[in-house]
Amino acid sequence: MYVYAHVNDLFAMNLVLFGPPGAGKGTQGSVLAERRGLMKISTGDILRDAVRAGTTLGIEARKFMDAGELVPDSVILGLVREAIEDAGSGFIMDGFPRTIAQAEGVDAMLDEMQKSIDAVIVLEVPDEALVKRLSGRRSCPNCGSIYNVYFDKPKHDEKCDRCNAELVHRADDKKETVVRRLDVYKQQTQPIIEYYQTHGAPVHTIDGDRGIEDVQRDILQILDR
Ligand code: AP5
Repeated sequence: MYVYAHVNDLFAMNLVLFGPPGAGKGTQGSVLAERRGLMKISTGDILRDAVRAGTTLGIEARKFMDAGELVPDSVILGLVREAIEDAGSGFIMDGFPRTIAQAEGVDAMLDEMQKSIDAVIVLEVPDEALVKRLSGRRSCPNCGSIYNVYFDKPKHDEKCDRCNAELVHRADDKKETVVRRLDVYKQQTQPIIEYYQTHGAPVHTIDGDRGIEDVQRDILQILDR
């Protein structure tokens, strides 16, 4: 037990996994979190849980999500603060920050907690590949596993390999919504790369248009440097 905790402490890092919808943030983040004992903080997953639970937050957030728009910064920053406080040693942020205001907000929060971002990993994938990936994505509403009917099929059609739950096609993966999400990414989220370049967090860009294992290997190489 002691050795396990000690090894995890060696890898304790705070990371941002960055990229457009469908770039593979969730896929890579889950593998990395497991391999390195880090907590994955996905604002998308937190919001989808709230939608499923029918909470006030979920009912409000759903309107934005189904339209491919961003949920207001004030709501998101509150959720992230709670998640970081629970994260202990090391976290991977997936799908956050998504606006300059969120990047500034989390920097202030981390300063207060005497933490910082160790690396920002940007996954680059062309738009055509993103549209295909999202149209083929299937997710497990129970354990969060991600599959793809073109690239990473479940063993049994439409059932999760891990927990056997029925897989779902996300409501915001419809083509019109995907197109809007890509626009929102370019307008509101991409400028954050420059923000981090000028605010000191090391930014590493990776070609995300390759096999899942190849991308993961590059991420691990960067983190091990
Ligand atoms: P969120 O859930 O964060 O969605 P997203 O950022 O649009 O990203 P995705 O989850 O669609 O893609 P991903 O990069 O994780 O790709 P994945 O690994 O699944 O947000 C949803 C909505 O919530 C937003 O639109 C917004 O409304 C709201 N929201 C969330 N956070 C917010 C915030 N901070 N502020 C405001 N609003 C917020 O992979 C995609 C598919 O490709 C999968 O099927 C996978 O199997 C496959 N795949 C992955 N890697 C590869 C590969 N290398 N080769 C082939 N296929 C691959």
